[in-house]
Amino acid sequence: MATKRTNTATQFECSECGYQAAKYFGRCPQCQAWNTMVESETGNDEEAGAGAADSGSLQRLSEIDPAAAPRRLTGVGEFDRVLGGGIVPHSVVLIGGEPGVGKSTLLLEVSAALAQQDRTVLYYSGEESAQQIKLRADRLGIRSAGIFLFTSGSLEELKRHVRETRPEFLIIDSIQTLTSRKTAPLSGSIASLRNVTAEVIDMAKKIGITVFLIGHITKEGQLAGPKTLEHMVDAVLYFQGETQADLRLLRAEKNRFGPLNEIGIFQMSEKGLTSVNDPTQVLIQNRLSTAPGTAIFPAMSGTRPLLTEVQALVSESPFAGNPRRIAIGFDSYRLAMLISIIEKKLRLPFYKSDVFLNVTGGMVIREAAADLAVCQALVSSCKSIAPRPNSVVLGEVGLTGELRPVSFLETRVKEAIRQGFLTILLPAAQCTPGVLPKNHDISAIPIESIRDLLEHLNK
Ligand SMILES: Nc1ncnc2c1ncn2[C@@H]1O[C@H](COP(=O)(O)OP(=O)(O)OP(=O)(O)O)[C@@H](O)[C@H]1O
Ligand SMILES: [Mg+2]
Repeated sequence: MATKRTNTATQFECSECGYQAAKYFGRCPQCQAWNTMVESETGNDEEAGAGAADSGSLQRLSEIDPAAAPRRLTGVGEFDRVLGGGIVPHSVVLIGGEPGVGKSTLLLEVSAALAQQDRTVLYYSGEESAQQIKLRADRLGIRSAGIFLFTSGSLEELKRHVRETRPEFLIIDSIQTLTSRKTAPLSGSIASLRNVTAEVIDMAKKIGITVFLIGHITKEGQLAGPKTLEHMVDAVLYFQGETQADLRLLRAEKNRFGPLNEIGIFQMSEKGLTSVNDPTQVLIQNRLSTAPGTAIFPAMSGTRPLLTEVQALVSESPFAGNPRRIAIGFDSYRLAMLISIIEKKLRLPFYKSDVFLNVTGGMVIREAAADLAVCQALVSSCKSIAPRPNSVVLGEVGLTGELRPVSFLETRVKEAIRQGFLTILLPAAQCTPGVLPKNHDISAIPIESIRDLLEHLNK
């Protein structure tokens, strides 16, 4: 996001998007929000951030020993997975999520897991009293002596506690509730939030502690505060809730030390969050395998295969000439492209139909390998013909309707077999004799072009 900066000591800043200007605007020129410009001081902004980059003496890159700071596993398996295989020491991780999704629960459980390894954790809560946190800890069965609590919202006091307890891990729940004496007049503003965050990061890097910051998110689902906040930290994770089976998904939006497409899956219960070890089972447990408009796609989430259900509803549109195309969990441009290919190659009249596409369980598919599954769901719903029972579908669709090969074929096939699927529709080019392991009941159907889809729906 382009943010205009000026050199004046006093300036105005939008509390929604962080846009800065030398004069007041009733409406933010960048995000168009009304009455969001607040007065701020930015003279020390750059200084505040500069400390974080100050690493002291000069070192040769080749002489730095990476083993001196190995990653630390928290023991909360799905959390470690999303971080890229454990915590990188002295990193600062921002975790955002809707109110009540379970952010405090997750970090209290992570704290307990760390304390169990004899690590000292300082937990700051500006939103709940010590008694409320204790009630949660009792509910979750946490009794660790290595967790220290602190609930007043002052940055100066937090620093004092850090100096005294010398924790290895610091949890800040939430960063929006922490204020500094220096920026007290601007309390609640974007400038204050940025200064406090910069000071926390500076402290973390200087004295060598790992920090987890919990952040509020806006109505639009973005982390509240300027985008610069996300640039300042090492990783940004989103914790997202799904009503289905009380699932909670943790995904990385940014990670300096790990992949972005790895997803952590938890189940929330009265006893807290449990890492889901076999997410496919949870994701596809409620499916009606014979319903028209569905397809099971063996997706890759980082290094892990996850069978995911794609559903489509194609119905006659009341808006002649301007039908709706809604995609949840899938790119809407790609959906529009696939619809056009189907219209052209299969001569199905989508132009007069509304199309709704949903990837169930709150999953998001960003792989082109899901094209054929999306096409199957669309065609199956349009023609009201169920897909083959117990089948999985994969393949990228080109603009001429041809099927293109996909990556990680072996891993995807193995997962389909493990979950008891009997048929796999895949690009003809990949349907070689050795593609399926021997001694399994699964059979492969080669798909050369999207035209082949119709004859392989259930008749
Ligand atoms: N007794 C309970 N039984 C089952 N689930 C519970 C119970 N108490 C709390 N929860 C779950 O925990 C969630 C609240 O968790 P938590 O307070 O960690 O969320 P949070 O994201 O930190 O919320 P906030 O944004 O308000 O700080 C509830 O939405 C609910 O799903
Ligand atoms: Mg909370």
